[in-house]
Amino acid sequence: MTATPGDAPIPALAVRELRGGTAGSTPLVLLHGFPVDSRMWESTVAQLPVDRTVLGVDLPGLGGSADVDLPAPPGLEAAADAVAQALAARGVERAVVAGLSMGGYVALALLERHPDLIAGLGLLDTKATADDDDARLNRLRIADAVEETGSVAEVLPMGTALLGESTRAARPTLAATLTAWIEDQQPAGVAWSQRAMAARPDRGHLLREFHGPALVLVGDEDQVTPAAVAEAMAEALPAGQLVVVVRSGHMTAVEDPAAVAAALGDLAQRVDTVND
Ligand code: MLT
Repeated sequence: MTATPGDAPIPALAVRELRGGTAGSTPLVLLHGFPVDSRMWESTVAQLPVDRTVLGVDLPGLGGSADVDLPAPPGLEAAADAVAQALAARGVERAVVAGLSMGGYVALALLERHPDLIAGLGLLDTKATADDDDARLNRLRIADAVEETGSVAEVLPMGTALLGESTRAARPTLAATLTAWIEDQQPAGVAWSQRAMAARPDRGHLLREFHGPALVLVGDEDQVTPAAVAEAMAEALPAGQLVVVVRSGHMTAVEDPAAVAAALGDLAQRVDTVND
């Protein structure tokens, strides 16, 4: 393992067992998007077709990890080290790791820093590239605003904006659920996450080097990480499979949990086949 930037202590993250499973099967570890927490996986896990342990990790500063000491400087490398440490504390040394959006950025940082942990990789509504200057500056502006106001109001519109148009029309109450999850977050964790994402490098080269089973999933109405980005990632991964979820936006796991559960179940089975 490479050292955490600044060799800061690694925060002890909250890990939720979203489903218990048969001992011996490779666990599934789910990393949530921004600015929510592991609750976003519950509807997906309820529909997972496989019998295995499923763990949801709350990333630094968010959800059940709101009160951890946040590493300085903010970085997804520190988040990845904290995930690896939290899993090791539970005896998990190899897992199917799937992350949505920010969770996908952390999954790629895990692949870089803790490659032995990754038995299978799920990249949902995410990208492997770094931010451009405008996106980076916007994140830093939001981080400052959230800190200065002591409120997450700046990111509340994401509760609606991350959902696809079809979901907003068909399930009008879902935006309120997402917005409530965002309202639950602490400004410090929201600001830290934005700064950590702003600092992330391009990790595209890792895709070509990962030969294990991999899933790239995207909603066809995802405006944040569009389908073309997902197609390119799936092509770069030697064993990448692309799943496009129709009539879904960026938050596929809450917009169409059945489709995401089926795709994750398939990924887990591919990992089992490789291990047999
Ligand atoms: C997320 O859903 O995690 C965010 O949209 C990620 C981002 O801001 O890049």
